[in-house]
Amino acid sequence: MLDIFDTLCEINACVSPSGSEEAVSVAIAKVAAPFADSITTDALGNLIVKKNGKPGGKKIMLSAHMDSIGLVVTYIDDKGYIRFSNLGGINAPGLPGTPVRFGNGTRGVVAMEGKVKLADCKIQNLYIDIGVSSREEAEKYVKIADVAAFDTPAFRTGNCIVSPYLDNRISCVTLLRALELVSASTPENELYFVFSVQEEVGTRGAQVAAFGLEPDLGLAVDVTRTGDTPEIAVPMACDAGGGAAVKIMDGSLICSPKLVAALEKCAETNNIKYQREILLNGGTDAGVMQRSKGGMHAGCISIPTRYIHSPQEMCCESDVADSAALIAAFVSAKIEL
Ligand code: CO
Ligand code: ZN
Repeated sequence: MLDIFDTLCEINACVSPSGSEEAVSVAIAKVAAPFADSITTDALGNLIVKKNGKPGGKKIMLSAHMDSIGLVVTYIDDKGYIRFSNLGGINAPGLPGTPVRFGNGTRGVVAMEGKVKLADCKIQNLYIDIGVSSREEAEKYVKIADVAAFDTPAFRTGNCIVSPYLDNRISCVTLLRALELVSASTPENELYFVFSVQEEVGTRGAQVAAFGLEPDLGLAVDVTRTGDTPEIAVPMACDAGGGAAVKIMDGSLICSPKLVAALEKCAETNNIKYQREILLNGGTDAGVMQRSKGGMHAGCISIPTRYIHSPQEMCCESDVADSAALIAAFVSAKIEL
């Protein structure tokens, strides 16, 4: 069985924010290859891993976005300090002190202008210091439009994994594990495991993948917030370690009630730990799948994750295993909705 932490580190080793997913796509395809019937990519870069099913089953699209949030170089000043913009939702006050890495291996650290107070810090007050003293020197390593990723470490502690980009590489690992599980026999349904692009800038990849594949049913996998940390502003009934989170709704969709009921029944039948999830803000690939073409039954399995979009996110390994088991059990069996 694929090791959750090792597979995460393997596919997380690349710099692949939204729009630059090629490296992570290659890494995921390598892990998926032994279990796949075919692997293709489309024009946007979505990676589509197909697993053939028995005739007469449903056509199912599973989607986990493989892009991460990231930083894109917009300007290099005379002293070689690098200004950047955001790809996806970046919390500027959380960034000073964060090590970053460019695709060519160049490393640096995010720092903040001296005149600014941390609480007022905007992205335009931040810069990347790569340890050079002129623009000319900086341009040997970094060019305008190059992208950088958090270079923070991944490790296990307690029952949890700490890593950058659990959003959404941990869901990619979940799907890879589900693919491995369903490969033990021929599933009842025709399965398309989509590792989608550009989710963090507006669920763009899943939108075209769903349109192109025209599935009967769509199931996204993504991270969700948790309610189990001190003094949170709004209570939330979803905990790290509480099991696979079956999404009821978020800012992008109200999940198909029939699909939610079928997922919960599947979890109960197979003795898989699960919880319900309502996310007040934010969306997932499920939102665009639901509204593609004539519409489809759509839902989402979420991995409860603390500190989402920070350089060190945290999730519970057992939730990943439970989610993979639930997805595999659900898509392997006959589905009546
Ligand atoms: Co995200
Ligand atoms: Zn995500």
